[in-house]
Amino acid sequence: MAGTTGRPDPTLDTARLAGHPVARVGFGAMQLAERGGRAAPARDAALGVLRRAVELGVDHIDTAEFYGAGVANELIRSALHPYPDDLVLVSKVGAEHHPGKGLVPAQRPEQLRAGVEANLRSLGVEQVTVVNLRRLDTGPGIEATGDQRVDLDGQLAEMVALRDEGKIGGIGLSNVGVDQLRRALPVGIACVQNVYNLLDRSGEPLLDLCREHDLAWVPFFPLGSAFPRMPSVTDHPAVIAAATALDVTPAQVALAWLLAHDPHVLLIPGTSSTAHLADNVAAGSVHLDAETMSTLDGLAVAPG
Ligand SMILES: NC(=O)c1ccc[n+]([C@@H]2O[C@H](COP(=O)([O-])OP(=O)(O)OC[C@H]3O[C@@H](n4cnc5c(N)ncnc54)[C@H](OP(=O)(O)O)[C@@H]3O)[C@@H](O)[C@H]2O)c1
Repeated sequence: MAGTTGRPDPTLDTARLAGHPVARVGFGAMQLAERGGRAAPARDAALGVLRRAVELGVDHIDTAEFYGAGVANELIRSALHPYPDDLVLVSKVGAEHHPGKGLVPAQRPEQLRAGVEANLRSLGVEQVTVVNLRRLDTGPGIEATGDQRVDLDGQLAEMVALRDEGKIGGIGLSNVGVDQLRRALPVGIACVQNVYNLLDRSGEPLLDLCREHDLAWVPFFPLGSAFPRMPSVTDHPAVIAAATALDVTPAQVALAWLLAHDPHVLLIPGTSSTAHLADNVAAGSVHLDAETMSTLDGLAVAPG
């Protein structure tokens, strides 16, 4: 990561993820398969979004085998395999799709291994560059109960074994707390993926720890998600006002704020629209002046 203090140069548009250089604006594939209750896009449209993302310079795609019960990974493989050499595919384990029950926890070490194996098969790769261990201690989303409440150390041992075997290139953590990240640091962590955006800064202490240890911070729900119960960043009046003043879109304001907030931020906004995709990629070159940054800094609903 270039620079660890202060506000980054807004023209700085690449960073490193598990040792790989990546554009700071990547792509999250969840919207191609699951859309908070809305219908997923048509297959051809979804394939088009993925191909366009790579054409626009996206070289970091976030996915999961359980997005749409394998749909997201199948789309990625169909659209992009054989993959460009510089494409970094990041997946996650910790939940699985159960026929009849939908998304269920899969936290036990042997389930993490099965999840990695499923990703290798569906993505058609010998190694997934980074795999996030998605903890389910708390929401958003499903929560682990009973024998799915698994100690972190045993999970990390399995993730390290998978890395030693070459099946994953790096270990990420998702939906963790500060203490859990501290416990995991000795095994070597590539990135942290927690909910975080302009309106929800509850993850700020975790971002501080990422800064201290030079880890990539990859917020999920950077725009507030597609779920109606979550506050939409792009609908916030101050975000809309800033966008109007700068002649950019609200999504670009939301994403540019994240990029300017800290150089450890890598983005994976999700979209099923090529127009929104182009908007989001272009957010990497949107400059927010000091006054706009200061106004936006003050918006957090839940400051850390
Ligand atoms: N680790 C985890 O637990 C976890 C959890 C959730 C998500 N994720 C990852 O994080 C990624 C991002 O999160 P997310 O997709 O849930 O939410 P998000 O990126 O915050 O927001 C997605 C929503 O924003 C809309 N959108 C995207 N670009 C837009 C634009 N330029 N203008 C207006 N609206 C726009 C999308 O609608 P359209 O489709 O109409 O553009 C969709 O409704 C996911 O795709 C997934 O890869 C990880």
